[in-house]
Amino acid sequence: DVIDIRALGKHGYFTYDPGFLSTASCSSSITFIDGDKGLLYYRGYPIEQLAEHASFLEVAHLLIKGELPNAQEYSDFSDTVHSHTMLHDQISTVFRGFRRDAHPMAVMVSVVGAMSAFYPENADVTDARQREIAAFRLLAKIPTVAAWCYKYNRGEPFTYPQNRLNYSENFMHMMFATPCEPYTPNPILARALERILILHADHEQNASTSTVRLTGSSGANPFACIAAGIASLWGPAHGGANEAVLKMLEEIGDVSNIGKCIERAKDKSNPFRLMGFGHRVYKNMDPRASMMRRTCHEVLNELGLTDDPLFKVALELERIALEDEYFISKKLYPNVDFYSGIVLRAMGIPTNMFTAIFALARTAGWVAQWNEMITDPDAKIGRPRQLYKGQQRRGYLAIDER
Ligand code: ACO
Repeated sequence: DVIDIRALGKHGYFTYDPGFLSTASCSSSITFIDGDKGLLYYRGYPIEQLAEHASFLEVAHLLIKGELPNAQEYSDFSDTVHSHTMLHDQISTVFRGFRRDAHPMAVMVSVVGAMSAFYPENADVTDARQREIAAFRLLAKIPTVAAWCYKYNRGEPFTYPQNRLNYSENFMHMMFATPCEPYTPNPILARALERILILHADHEQNASTSTVRLTGSSGANPFACIAAGIASLWGPAHGGANEAVLKMLEEIGDVSNIGKCIERAKDKSNPFRLMGFGHRVYKNMDPRASMMRRTCHEVLNELGLTDDPLFKVALELERIALEDEYFISKKLYPNVDFYSGIVLRAMGIPTNMFTAIFALARTAGWVAQWNEMITDPDAKIGRPRQLYKGQQRRGYLAIDER
């Protein structure tokens, strides 16, 4: 049941809802989740069908434009994305201002924010054409930004995009090719990466998407809005969880240590949580987690890593947690990030790049949500109310009288 409380506000009432547990901040036609049944649809299409059959750019078209493209639309869309994959040459100087070991997310926040200064014409968010160009620029350039974060960490020269490759292959090329050694993407790994991107592309009003919308509600330029989303995604309770899962699995190290880890997660005097478990909306299996588990099998088979000890720990941890009374009673199931880290690691992607890849995928959803917000006739500047709990009015005392 939905109560529209706008009229109540006119009479001086407002609701107190920390963490927006029961408050819709907007209406949206993009993504549907039924957390009790474990369903996720983009524009009405079940995530399983999209992850199985679609390419990431088809899904980006679906999210941003509302429909799956036909062959001609797909070709036009993908050609336009490819025409925007290069970064302005001076953007490389933004990278060079960082320490070599800077976390890729720190660099990404800055570089994407700095793009506002390179494309000031896109700041006119009232102009549909400018919004469209900004959307293409973001979608096209974010893999280049992410790959260059990695290259910068390694001290290798930046690799330029290859527009004959598809979205994921191009990203892998920019990550792994060097001037001495070209990189030929393995089609099974490239398809697995496409699937990871599709599964992460949108997830309705999560913290980072809400941040993008709230930032954009003031009319801020699109690059600043996406930079704000990247900052929010970085947190370990959100996009940073994939990195945290891998660290946790490495710490557990062996199936014999799982019991201790589960007990620690249940101990309320300890802030430790089982990373990759639980979700604000899913109180059933996250449908993306099942797809990721399957992808994990496929990738490890392809690479001959079926004995991967971390994968064994993950499978056993999932099995034990799903039978544990605490996790059953709290409806805690693996989320999308439980298996994604194992897949990315097997592909040779370092842990500190995991959240950057999540940001790359989520850019499609952020752009779609930002555009929907801008064009919503009901949209207003986001301005939550508060319950003030501080001091009542009091008088200033000179410093020697306090
Ligand atoms: N391990 C152990 N206990 C947990 C976990 C967990 N991973 N997650 C939730 N709980 C417990 C809480 O301690 C709480 O117990 P209580 O009722 O006794 O106080 C109860 O389950 C409900 O938890 P909340 O924090 O109220 O649930 P909320 O919806 O606010 O949080 C969240 C969801 C942040 C995802 C949480 O489950 C969590 O921290 N999980 C681990 C981090 C993680 O995997 N994040 C990725 C999310 S998915 C994504 O962003 C792509």
